[in-house]
Amino acid sequence: MYEVEVVNSGKKAQLSLYNRQFFAVILNLAIKNHTGLEVLKFVRAKHAGQRVVVMLDSLEMLKKDDLDVQKLVKMGATEVMVRPFTMEQLKDVLEGQQTIDDLVKNIPKPTGSTAEMEVSESDANFTKVKIEEFYTGKAILFNVYIQLGSNKYVKILYAGDTFSLERLNRYKNEKGVQFLYFHNADRQKYIQYCNFLASKIIASEKVSGPAKVKMMKATAEKLIEEVYSVGLKPQAVEESKQLAQNMYQLLENQTDLYQVLREFQEFDPNAYTHSYSVTLFATAIIKQFEWQSKVMIETTALACLLHDIGKVKMPRELVDKRPSQMSQAELEIYKKHPEFGDKILSNNLMIGQNIRQIILQHHEYFNGTGFPNGLKGNKVLSISNIISLCDDFVHFMITDQTAPPETLKRILVNTELVKRYNSVILENFIKIFVDPEKITKNSSLPSNSRMVPHKRAAS
Ligand SMILES: [Fe+2]
Ligand SMILES: [Fe+2]
Repeated sequence: MYEVEVVNSGKKAQLSLYNRQFFAVILNLAIKNHTGLEVLKFVRAKHAGQRVVVMLDSLEMLKKDDLDVQKLVKMGATEVMVRPFTMEQLKDVLEGQQTIDDLVKNIPKPTGSTAEMEVSESDANFTKVKIEEFYTGKAILFNVYIQLGSNKYVKILYAGDTFSLERLNRYKNEKGVQFLYFHNADRQKYIQYCNFLASKIIASEKVSGPAKVKMMKATAEKLIEEVYSVGLKPQAVEESKQLAQNMYQLLENQTDLYQVLREFQEFDPNAYTHSYSVTLFATAIIKQFEWQSKVMIETTALACLLHDIGKVKMPRELVDKRPSQMSQAELEIYKKHPEFGDKILSNNLMIGQNIRQIILQHHEYFNGTGFPNGLKGNKVLSISNIISLCDDFVHFMITDQTAPPETLKRILVNTELVKRYNSVILENFIKIFVDPEKITKNSSLPSNSRMVPHKRAAS
């Protein structure tokens, strides 16, 4: 979930540190062109308080400079890690003792006034969040604005400030403010803020399982509404959101089905964000089709909410891995999750054969490169192909932290990816975006696609 800048020399590291503020520096002591030690000294002299995780090939290597771990810590290293270590261990070190206060400590304090400040900037650069979504008493990781008029904002809080309940209520009740805004450049910080709060919820022993699911659901909906729907037609988002929520409510009322779903969400707390986003995009696509019907839309929504349910049968450690990180043996197990899902749902009266069929095929691709059966072309159910597209899309969007239009562009310029989906489905996906022309520029959609403007023959 971090935005990362990688440099390959000490000089470049110092230059980056000079230009930007970082949450943490991961410093390979063996770096050349200004050694790691020099960079460490530079950090201590110029950026006191900067978190530096020093990475060593071995403890042996310290001896030649007459160093040890204690000395490194004295020189400004906050943590020392000896290779080999896993990404997971690095993540634990980065997040282990992390509190909102730690995150906030790394925010540069604005020099001079922190009074409210007016800015004139395009509305397109801001994302709005309902004022109710803000927590009081916790420091904010990003600047917060109120909209004064079109393209006009006032900065009311600086990153690192704390929102007091009084102040929040004053905006809400006296000034009638419904939305607060953050700059799109702070999107990652907003997601980090939401995820941080969510991770605390998951870790808490005081919160019961069902309550965790509920809170995760609220966080997911908030993220999707505010961040993951940037660039989409508002109407498409609104309708699909309503639909997904209604379907979820329907599931909640089906005792045994909800039990299965809840177990899955407790097993994987991120499952709801994933399923919910897939539902949102998939139903928005279906709504573009002329042949849509209410039953078909609801079938899609239900299949989407349950599509990955078979993952409960996988070993827990596989859930957080992407297929690209799995060993061959792990991949074999992972590829069984559509079948597991089909099986889990087979005893349920509410789930018809059609929904199970869709779930069974949700990783099949139009060009036959999917699993479990490598079905091809029209053999793959359209709804399944829609889900596989949305599933990929949501994974790309979350892994790369890109807004929907950029995520779609990334798929469209990749010929191999484009071949996975029925082009009509892809075209209908593009239609739910506000600016389809901008997105299809440079795309590798097939030349007979209606989305590709036909080049005029030279006269
Ligand atoms: Fe899946
Ligand atoms: Fe999925």
